[in-house]
Amino acid sequence: MTHSKHLTFIAAARPNFMKIAPLVRACMKSDSVSFTLIHTGQHYDKNMSDTFFEQLSIPQPDLNLNIGGGSHATQTGNTMIAFESYLQENKTDCVIVVGDVNATLACALTAKKQHIPVAHIESGLRSFDRSMPEEINRLATDAISDFLYTPSPDADIQLKKEGVTDDKICCIGNVMIDTLFNNLDAADQSNILNTINQSPGSYALLTLHRPSNVDDKATLEGILRGLEHVAKELPIVFPLHPRTKKQIESFGLEDAFNTHNKGTANFIVLEPVGYLEMLKLTKNANIILTDSGGLQEETTVLGVPCLTLRPNTERPITITEGSNILVGTDTEAIITNFDKYKNTKSSRKPDLWDGHAADRFLSDILTRLD
Ligand code: UD1
Repeated sequence: MTHSKHLTFIAAARPNFMKIAPLVRACMKSDSVSFTLIHTGQHYDKNMSDTFFEQLSIPQPDLNLNIGGGSHATQTGNTMIAFESYLQENKTDCVIVVGDVNATLACALTAKKQHIPVAHIESGLRSFDRSMPEEINRLATDAISDFLYTPSPDADIQLKKEGVTDDKICCIGNVMIDTLFNNLDAADQSNILNTINQSPGSYALLTLHRPSNVDDKATLEGILRGLEHVAKELPIVFPLHPRTKKQIESFGLEDAFNTHNKGTANFIVLEPVGYLEMLKLTKNANIILTDSGGLQEETTVLGVPCLTLRPNTERPITITEGSNILVGTDTEAIITNFDKYKNTKSSRKPDLWDGHAADRFLSDILTRLD
């Protein structure tokens, strides 16, 4: 018999919102659960945050901790302090954190020290690259979480290798893909292709924001030289992340990334776009070049070739069972792989990436908390 339970969900940065949306929706349909949604405020611009709440019909957060930007210690520490005072005043049966951003770790740590059970959604992913802040967040969050919800069986295997016992692990599939399936029809209605004067297959789509790519001038210039080859064949649509914008400006590379600049590059640079616009751009791209984690998964489900501009991925299933190709940041590798994979399509998809991961989460967590 399931009794009414209270869950506290944490959302902080753009990629969290797509993961939180189906979880919250599943709770809203259930009589057995009530919930609180907390936004830590790590991402705060309208086009990095509010737009996603509106487009994905996520209810307004019950509380915004307004943490904002800053160093890792600043963000993590301020989140912990603010969340600790919240938890001291407000009872909950479980704190649910998603993904691998600073708030994921900060809120998991805070809840555990208050003896509150923690569930981690998207558990078990590993890049094995401890220079990535997200890898530290993933390792530390999984080490202290009580319930580890994985997107695919390779993550279960990894957790077991790290000594996690079977009873803590539950493979539910991919909550981000729940959101993708929920929004495909609405995304099809978006006008973004008309606005930028493109048609299905006519462009490459680029996103870049990893510190390892955009905070290092030589790496960014190496990527840029590869992109100049791509741009001779296809215009490159480039929604610009705030971190990347700042870095391009500080390196004086604005001209190189501008549309039709000096007859070499052919970039269509956009402000960060909403979820629906991005989904339409992704679905209809000829090929994608990215260092994002989520896009590796979304392109897999959509069958669009994805050149991942990183030396590693925490999502290897998108390579073995999807359309992802690990390219790195070397200019020649970008050129060769672009020539090989442009105009290709794939139709493979991992099991349980089927739009029902959040329902599986809710029925499992309610059994565990009962
Ligand atoms: C964070 C996550 C990363 C995720 C990414 C998606 C961590 C360690 N990193 O990185 O895993 O892939 O979000 O975007 O948690 N900024 C704005 N407006 C905003 C948000 C940020 O101007 O709405 C600025 C910040 O002030 C900062 C820069 O962008 O200067 C980077 O933001 P930050 O939250 O530190 O990290 P991300 O690079 O976005």
